[in-house]
Amino acid sequence: YRTLRVALLGAGAVGSQVAALLRRHADELADRAEARLELAGIAVRDVDAPREADLPRELFTTDAETLIVGSDIVIELMGGIEPARTYILQALNSGADVVTANKALLATHGSEIFDAADQVGASVYYEAAAAGAIPIIRPLRDSLAGDRVVRIMGIVNGTTNYILDRMDTEGAEFADVLADAQALGYAEADPTADVEGYDAAQKAAILASLAFHTSVPLDAVHREGITQVDKAMMDAARHAGYVIKLLAVCERLTTDAATEAISVRVYPALVPRTHPLASVHGANNAVFVQAEAAGNLMFYGAGAGGVQTASAVLGDVVSAARRHIAGGVGVGESTRANLPVVPIGHVTTRY
Ligand code: NDP
Ligand code: HSE
Repeated sequence: YRTLRVALLGAGAVGSQVAALLRRHADELADRAEARLELAGIAVRDVDAPREADLPRELFTTDAETLIVGSDIVIELMGGIEPARTYILQALNSGADVVTANKALLATHGSEIFDAADQVGASVYYEAAAAGAIPIIRPLRDSLAGDRVVRIMGIVNGTTNYILDRMDTEGAEFADVLADAQALGYAEADPTADVEGYDAAQKAAILASLAFHTSVPLDAVHREGITQVDKAMMDAARHAGYVIKLLAVCERLTTDAATEAISVRVYPALVPRTHPLASVHGANNAVFVQAEAAGNLMFYGAGAGGVQTASAVLGDVVSAARRHIAGGVGVGESTRANLPVVPIGHVTTRY
């Protein structure tokens, strides 16, 4: 097989697992990708920091820019806007394909990044940027490209689901379970992104953009987090036959092409205990997709966690390697004129 040079940016909860799996399954991945994936190095802030996975010290560097030079595939798992944005643009402009799980970056600078990829015929893969291990980006972008998605509704943040679930089932305190979610590698580097709903809003913007073939700006997403939810609210909901879940809802408001508009919103909702979403426990996510022809589809699984998310990242790495070997063109994002996003709160949600 030809060898492809892979640069990894970040070795935290997700990156360290990606590096470990790339090395452990090197032969199998080579067969699937029809290319040997050589982990050329791992860029981090502190080369001596303790890591989840047992990785050779000589792989680590603080010099991401030099590591990117000459790479065929760059995996960005640092998170945040800068320097991730600059490194991704550098990678694309040097001819590399990019794999990223960075929803914060894609929801705010996605157009710039996809345009940069288009200009040089490179591709950006981001299956892990929404709902962790669950395949949802490809189904929306590819499998449902011949259908008309009407609605997406679900739980897309693992940290808040983990917190709400433990508050509901154990009567646990918000602060204690947030600390556990951080220790388990579910939370963002700044967990405000999770508990205030920013992370779910970023994912909702990404999913709605794909589903409705438009470009949903993050500031058009109605966002509420879970910091106001306390034990008394949980108890009241339980006694009334409900559970509180942080929901993301993306839907078409009309089916008439002339007056098309959508709504994208994230908020803590009272979900009836008999509804399938009420049974989504821990850091799992679930996404319901309703399409005109396909009807109702349900995607369920681990929404956060280092090794689980590494699965989605490695799937993208294999896709990028296959495309690279085939000398293919970019996968592209088919976006048409921007649809109006109507500001609607949670009161109109139908289950
Ligand atoms: P972590 O915070 O655990 O790890 C971040 C890594 O990036 C660390 O290794 C850190 O280095 C490195 N890093 C950060 N800033 C820099 C910088 N300026 N220069 C060099 N290296 C840097 O993040 P996660 O692994 O949890 O998340 C990574 C990405 O994946 C994020 O975009 C996140 O949103 C996304 N994601 C995370 C999931 C999860 O369950 N954790 C699930 C799905 C997506 P050092 O170790 O030296 O500090
Ligand atoms: N912090 C995110 C979550 C990671 O809890 O869902 C997965 O995107």
